[in-house]
Amino acid sequence: MPWIVGVSGASGTPYAAAVLRGLLAAGESVDLVVSRASRLTLLDETGIGYRDSHWRDDLREWLARGADGKPDTFDVSVVGDGERVRHWGAGDLAAGPSSGSYPSKGMLIVPASTACVAGVALGLSKDLLQRAASVTLKEGRKLVVAVRETPLNGQTLRHLVTLDDAGAVVLPASPAFYAGATHIQDLVDFVAGRVLDAAGVGHGLYRRWEGELGGGSGPRGGTA
Ligand SMILES: Cc1cc2nc3c(=O)[nH]c(=O)nc-3n(C[C@H](O)[C@H](O)[C@H](O)COP(=O)(O)O)c2cc1C
Repeated sequence: MPWIVGVSGASGTPYAAAVLRGLLAAGESVDLVVSRASRLTLLDETGIGYRDSHWRDDLREWLARGADGKPDTFDVSVVGDGERVRHWGAGDLAAGPSSGSYPSKGMLIVPASTACVAGVALGLSKDLLQRAASVTLKEGRKLVVAVRETPLNGQTLRHLVTLDDAGAVVLPASPAFYAGATHIQDLVDFVAGRVLDAAGVGHGLYRRWEGELGGGSGPRGGTA
């Protein structure tokens, strides 16, 4: 069964790339829904124009791109495997993930915009991404919402509480610095790794806390 990955129009398309690489490296299958707004953030953040008609080429380019501007070593040939990666149009409300009878392990929204958070909290189903998220909740499957906005207004905070009450994992895209990050990609991978942790998918994206202070590479000196 696939994981549904929803990419909405918050800043943070490198987080989505890192989660997708992590899922595929772990042998998972992915059903991908890229919102219309997220195509603007992807273009802005990477220069990649994501097209429904050329999604395989565009996704390969996206996954090959590291957050530090260097190529990632991930083998993008897996994107050509129709069994492992499926793309659904953002407006395709007849797509598989819009029905509860379509099998999935759950859904990861990375990054999640406040508009998306609101839409899912209120059950708007204004596009396939929001519909798939509502379906995931009603079927009692795992929903991880990696919200990215700062500061947060009261409205969004209330929507996030609604999602938490509904059983979703609210996971702010908020990197930590204790794992010895030295590159932007390390910070991206920390957030992506926490998303995969919430999904129960194995990975080696960041160094876990082991109960000893001073393990980072910060000014206090560390072992990294
Ligand atoms: C360059 C850019 C960056 C944005 N960053 C954020 C953001 O970090 N968080 C957010 O909630 N919205 C952000 N937005 C606004 C969303 O894209 C907008 O609310 C959109 O309607 C979200 O639609 P979606 O949830 O259907 O993808 C950004 C928009 C642009 C163009």
